[in-house]
Amino acid sequence: MKKYYITTPIYYPSDNLHIGHTYTTVAADTLKKFKRAQGYDVYLVTGSDEHGQKIQEKAKEYNMAPKQYVDGIVKDIKKLWNMLEVEYDEFIRTTDECHEKAVQKIFEKLYNQGDIYKSNYEGLYCTPCEAFWSESQLIDGKCPDCGRDVHLAKEEAYFFKLSKYKDRIIELYKERPDFLQPESRKNEMLNNFLNEGLEDLCVSRTSFDWGIKVPFDSKHVVYVWIDALLCYITALGYGTEDDEKFKKYWPANVHLVGKEIVRFHTIIWPAVLMALDIDLPDKVFGHGWILFEDDKMSKSKGNVIYPEPLIELYGIDAFRYFLLREFSFGQDGSFSREKFLQRLNSDLANDLGNLVSRTVTMVEKYNGGILPKAVKEDEIDKSLIEIAVNAGTKVEQNMDKLNYSQALEEIWKLVRRTNKYIDETTPWVLAKEEDKERLDTVLYNLTESIRIIAILLSPFMERTSKDILKQIGLKQEFSWEESKSWGKIESGTKVQRGEVLFPRLDIEKELVRLNEANQKLIEERGNKKVEEKKVESEEVVEEITIDDFAKVQFKVAEIIEAEEHPKADKLLILQLKVGEETRQVVSGIKKYYSPEDLVGKKVVIVANLKPIKLRGVESKGMVLAAEKDGKLTLVSTLEDIESGATIS
Ligand code: MSP
Repeated sequence: MKKYYITTPIYYPSDNLHIGHTYTTVAADTLKKFKRAQGYDVYLVTGSDEHGQKIQEKAKEYNMAPKQYVDGIVKDIKKLWNMLEVEYDEFIRTTDECHEKAVQKIFEKLYNQGDIYKSNYEGLYCTPCEAFWSESQLIDGKCPDCGRDVHLAKEEAYFFKLSKYKDRIIELYKERPDFLQPESRKNEMLNNFLNEGLEDLCVSRTSFDWGIKVPFDSKHVVYVWIDALLCYITALGYGTEDDEKFKKYWPANVHLVGKEIVRFHTIIWPAVLMALDIDLPDKVFGHGWILFEDDKMSKSKGNVIYPEPLIELYGIDAFRYFLLREFSFGQDGSFSREKFLQRLNSDLANDLGNLVSRTVTMVEKYNGGILPKAVKEDEIDKSLIEIAVNAGTKVEQNMDKLNYSQALEEIWKLVRRTNKYIDETTPWVLAKEEDKERLDTVLYNLTESIRIIAILLSPFMERTSKDILKQIGLKQEFSWEESKSWGKIESGTKVQRGEVLFPRLDIEKELVRLNEANQKLIEERGNKKVEEKKVESEEVVEEITIDDFAKVQFKVAEIIEAEEHPKADKLLILQLKVGEETRQVVSGIKKYYSPEDLVGKKVVIVANLKPIKLRGVESKGMVLAAEKDGKLTLVSTLEDIESGATIS
C-alpha cells in the first residue's frame, strides 16, 4: 500500500483557538480521509509548540510552572480536534521527552559537523513571534508578521549556517515547481528573502530557559522554530531507537501551513533537512487566512469567531463544509455569519438535504420503500449517468491541487443535476400515468446517483455520508473507486427515511442566536480570572466514553497481609484476597498507614491493571485512595461485602 504523510503545523498552545486555527487542521484531516479512501496508508501528524519566552511569561502571569500551564491548554486543543472529529495519528508535543532528546541529538550533530557555530547576536526581536528582524524588514518600525513592537536584544548565541544553503534552495524551487504552492508564495519567498541573500539564523536563546537545553551548553535553549519544525520527523521516531515510522512515512507528501509561516517551512526547514542529509518533503502548501470583515481575527480586537458555537448549533459537517467550500484554499477569505447560514440553507438544506428526502419519500410512496429495477431507459438518463460516473475523477483532479472548494463544487454539480433530473422526469406524473417501468427506472437512477454522492462526500462530511447511505438502505462500505461506476446499488434494497439532514434555517433568528453564543464565549474566555484559570488547568479532565470506563475493572479486595517494601521507604507490599484469588499489590501508602492497621480492611482495587515491578517487587493492580492537602484515606467499602465483588 502506498504511504501518504500529511502534517499540520505544530500549534502554539492557546486558549483562544478560533475558526482560522481550525482551517489548517480541517483541511489536513479531509485530505487524510480522501487519500485513505483512495487506498493510501495515510499518517497525519499534528501537535503543540510549547516552548519559548511567550509561554514562560504567560505561565508566570498565572503563577504556574510552564509545563503545568501548557498541560491544561493542550488538553483543550485536543478536545477541539476531537470535537471536529479530526483523526490525527500522532499528537506530538515539543515537551515530549523523546522529542526533546532527539532535538538535542540533532543540534549536537549539526554543531559537530560545523553547520551550527557559536557567535553573538544583536538585533531587533519580536517576543510574540519569537523572531529576530533586521531594520529593513520592519514595517513602520514594527514586526512585519504581527505589527507589534520589537526591542533591541543582544546575546551570545548559536547560529545555523542558513546562508550556505541559499543557492540550493533557489535551485530546489526551480527543479521542483510543486515544492511550494501556490505559485504566488514562491515569488514572495524569492523576492523578499532569497534573492536578497540569506543571513545565518540564530538558533539558541539565553534570555529565558523554557526550552530544550543545548546539550553541550546548558545556558542556551534551542530556538523554538528549530524545536517545532523538527517535530515533523521526531513524530515519526527520527533520532530515537524506534524509527520504523520515519523509514516508512518520510518524506512528507505535504506540509499544510498558513501563509505567514511559509518562510519557515520553505527556507529554514529545507536547509535544516539538507544539513541533516534527509530527503525534502514533496510539497509545502501555504493557505490563505480566514479574516473577519477583512480584518485579522484577534482576541484584543474582540472580533474572534469561535468554532464551538457553529459546531454545537449546526453540526460538524456543516462547519467543515463551509470552511472548505466557501474559501479558496490558497487565498484569504472573509468569514461572515450570513454567508455561513446562507450556504447551509442553499447548499445543504435545499440542494443536498432535499434531494435525499425527496428521493427516499418517492421510493416509499411509489414502491413501498423497496428500490425497484431500472428497466426502461431514456436518453435523458445518459447525461445524469455521465456526470455521476465522472464526478469522482473531477474531485480527484481538484484534490490533487488541494482545491477543496472546487472539489466540493464538482460534487454539487452532480447534486444539482440530480435534482434537475427529478424535475425533468416528473415521477409524480409517471405515477399518475401508471408508467411503472419508467417510474421504477427514475427511482433507481436517483438512488444510484445519491449513492455516488454519498461516497464522494465521505472525506468531507463523514457523518452526512453515512447518514445518506443508511437512508438509501446501504449498510456495506463502498470504496472510492465504486463511485466511478453505475448500477452498483442492488434493486430490492429497502430504503429508510431518516431525520432531515439539514433543516432550513430562519437566517434572521439564527444570526441573533449565533452572535449571542459567540459573544458569550468571548466574554467567558476574556473574563476568566487568573485564579479560575489555574484551577481549571489543574482540574481539566480528559473525557472518556462509557466504553473506556467499561474497560476498567474495579473489585473489592481484603488485605490479608501487609509488610514494608525492603527497598523503598514509601511503599508497602500488600497481599490481597480477591474472591478465590490471592494477589500482591505494591502501594505508596506507607506514610499514612502502618502494616498492622491494614490487615482485615476491605479496599477497592483496579483489578485489570497491567502488572509492573516496583523496585523489584511485582504489583498486580492498584489500591484506590483519596488524597487532599496532605491527607490520604483508602477507598474502602461501606457495606460489608465479600472480596472479589465487582464494582460498576
Ligand atoms: N507554532 C507555529 C507553527 C510551527 S510549525 C513547525 C504556529 N502556530 S499557530 O498556532 O500560530 O498557527 C497554527 C496554524 O493556524 C497556522 O497554519 C496558521 O496559519 C493557522 N491560522 C491561525 N490563524 C489563522 C486564520 N485567521 N486563518 C487561517 N489560518 C490561520 O504558527
